[in-house]
Amino acid sequence: MSSCNSGRKKVYARTIMSMKGERRIVMITAYDFPTAKIVDEAGVDAILVGDSLGMVVLGYDSTLHVTMNDMIRHVSAVSRARPCALVIADMPFMSYEPSVRDAILNAGRLVRAGAETVKLEGGSEIIDRVKAIVSSGIPVMGHIGMTPQKVNRLGGYRRMGKTESEKRELLEDAKSLEEAGVFAIVIEYTKADVAKKITESITIPTICIGAGPYCDGQVLVVHDILGLSPFIPPFAKKYVDLSEIIRSAVKKYSEEVRSGAFPGEEYYK
Ligand code: KIV
Repeated sequence: MSSCNSGRKKVYARTIMSMKGERRIVMITAYDFPTAKIVDEAGVDAILVGDSLGMVVLGYDSTLHVTMNDMIRHVSAVSRARPCALVIADMPFMSYEPSVRDAILNAGRLVRAGAETVKLEGGSEIIDRVKAIVSSGIPVMGHIGMTPQKVNRLGGYRRMGKTESEKRELLEDAKSLEEAGVFAIVIEYTKADVAKKITESITIPTICIGAGPYCDGQVLVVHDILGLSPFIPPFAKKYVDLSEIIRSAVKKYSEEVRSGAFPGEEYYK
């Protein structure tokens, strides 16, 4: 996509890479056209069409239910906003695990839907998938730490990197992903000192969520910061309570319809 809508310079994966050590990277999720437009106009660097959409938009209790078709529908809605921010699409559960061929084909489907890069959860165990996707010309973002697609293996949503062996494994995963060619790595819900060590040990940017202040950037789920999520994780900050604003606007509308105050003359003359 060469031109973009919010009048800024288009952000590419290589722009994000060049920001390490220069400027902190701001990333946020969006799943639909209007939200993508608003967050882009607000000036974020990257928009993630996360598989968190399964929980915050589709009402599932985990991300494991999200399909390629779900992702394609939401990635294309976001890309129709023509954001200047980089558009990253999550590869959903079971879209890359079965084989390298599946990984390449599904990454390609997301790019055809409008994604500019894709994100995969995992470390050393997915290196062949990452290399193959990068070789086919699609920039890849890594995602380590608490990886929600592996919630059953990890034994629930918990902070990672508490033991020495977990710390070592996370650092090794980050280094392997860098070597495999990812342009940045999301570090989710780890101890802050682990994210710090990783950030200092690799040359590509790290983007934290619930992993402290030492990464090169931060990412949050847009529904969490706007107060639209039924459950807000302890590491997310609610900047506004949109649920309450919407509830009171809809209550007022209901009252006015019932009383006949809406539509007043100005709406039908
Ligand atoms: O799906 C998502 O929103 C994510 C972020 C939490 C990083 O992967």
